[in-house]
Amino acid sequence: MASTCSWPIFLVTLLFLLFLSLSLYSYHPNEDIKLLFPIKVLPNNLKTAHTEAPKAPAQHNSNGSRATTTLKLTVPVSKHIKNIDGKFLRIEKDLAEARTAIRKAIRQRNFTSDREESFIPRGCVYRNSYAFHQSHIEMLKRFKVWTYKEGEPPLFHSGPQSSIYGVEGHVMNELESGESPFKARHPDEAHIFMLPISVAHIVHFLYNPLVTYARDQLMRTVTDYTDIISHKYPYWNRSKGADHFLASCHDWAPDISKEKPGMELYKNLIRVLCNANTSEGFEPAKDVSLPEINIRGFELNPPMVGQHPQNRPILAFFAGRLHGRIREILLDRWKGKDEEMQVYDILPKHLNYQELMGKSKFCLCPSGYEVASPRLVESINAGCVPVIVSDYYELPFSDVLDWTKFSIVIPSKRIPEIKTLLKDVSETKYLKLYKRVIKVRRHFQLNRPAKPFDVLHMIIHSVWLRRLNVRLSH
Ligand SMILES: *[C@@H]1O[C@H](CO)[C@@H](O)[C@H](O)[C@H]1NC(C)=O
Ligand SMILES: *[C@@H]1O[C@H](CO)[C@@H](O)[C@H](O)[C@H]1NC(C)=O
Ligand SMILES: *[C@@H]1O[C@H](CO)[C@@H](O)[C@H](O)[C@H]1NC(C)=O
Ligand SMILES: *[C@@H]1O[C@H](CO)[C@@H](O)[C@H](O)[C@H]1NC(C)=O
Repeated sequence: MASTCSWPIFLVTLLFLLFLSLSLYSYHPNEDIKLLFPIKVLPNNLKTAHTEAPKAPAQHNSNGSRATTTLKLTVPVSKHIKNIDGKFLRIEKDLAEARTAIRKAIRQRNFTSDREESFIPRGCVYRNSYAFHQSHIEMLKRFKVWTYKEGEPPLFHSGPQSSIYGVEGHVMNELESGESPFKARHPDEAHIFMLPISVAHIVHFLYNPLVTYARDQLMRTVTDYTDIISHKYPYWNRSKGADHFLASCHDWAPDISKEKPGMELYKNLIRVLCNANTSEGFEPAKDVSLPEINIRGFELNPPMVGQHPQNRPILAFFAGRLHGRIREILLDRWKGKDEEMQVYDILPKHLNYQELMGKSKFCLCPSGYEVASPRLVESINAGCVPVIVSDYYELPFSDVLDWTKFSIVIPSKRIPEIKTLLKDVSETKYLKLYKRVIKVRRHFQLNRPAKPFDVLHMIIHSVWLRRLNVRLSH
């Protein structure tokens, strides 16, 4: 019979196709498109997925699900593989097209869009406004995020939406809500995968009462989750996590990827963190710095109470508790020492925090127990020029925004000189800084549903850029 004779040929073809598909799925990093990079990158920090030699396809071994699925199927094998590869290649093709469009925008110093553009970013606050604009256009046009369905609230699929970790819940909720243009309908159309894990909720619910600071329980919860999704679906394994992300504002979030035997899993994961301390493993080229936003109740943005620049009698303002080394030095040197430097730990009852920010030229934003401070967003909203007093802090959206144009960055060792440094800023320079603060304000506004160029879109854009910089497939 003809079918008997064609058996060996069929087998050889099958093996060949299997081999082909496995090699197609191997992970090829290192397609840094040098888009908006170089960003502030510390020399030793670049040993990420993006530059590391691929170990695949050995990891995606012959026991991999794709092999199994293929063999189980009754439809012609070649067609099946083509379908899966077709989808996968389409994703990569999509990203390649986006890169091309961005490069073109950089070259031509203008954008291309098939719809009316409501806002055109221009000016020195952007590292490259053409690249950013086009990249934002491409993101809106193409970017699809798949959120795994596994897991139940409150540890999964829900996070805090108010107070200082609130941005964590908003990112997750926005991307899971039906209204988001980024929501993928099927994982095969996704450019990226979100792990809907809330570190803040895990800490809140599993560490209650709080009798230990040991991270084991947190790590186990996250590892269990990735175990489940990596066994159930092919997506995690095929990229070794490089097209997956997890967003958290909680201080403990970086610890889930602390190097431990067997935890190398997380070295490619895109971590979207408020606690963006480059001295503690935060990698600017791979990870995303998430702005910390103190969301008060249901009020997404604080009221705008900022005064005109001529009507700001206070040189510098700060009020905040003694959290951490930097604040210790700051309060010790400046609290109650100088009329022009309004520095408090606890603000007296008759004074209003936001009003004071609105009456100050400069607002001090020192690190606390962790590098991030909600004061960055608060001062920008109040039209107060942020003075960032921190070490090793990778500022949010640094790949797009040039913070030196609308803020003052002061390392902790220069705290005693703060007043001199601020006095040295000429009136002209101050007015420029002020205008630019007002200009970048839209990028720090929180809206639900999110709007183009607002803070949620900026966060998603940061993830999009990291994804653009990784090329999967051959
Ligand atoms: C593949 O599966 C077989 C049988 O299930 C098992 O014995 C073997 O260790 C597996 N190989 C790998 C590399 O996982
Ligand atoms: C992904 O890799 C892990 C570890 O190698 C393996 O146990 C798991 O079965 C793989 N998942 C799929 C869907 O093949
Ligand atoms: C930039 O492109 C837009 C639309 O693509 C066009 O309307 C506009 O005139 C262009 N601007 C310049 C300076 O070329
Ligand atoms: C950032 O990390 C370094 C190194 O671990 C640490 O010394 C520093 O205190 C951290 N910064 C903050 C504000 O936690």
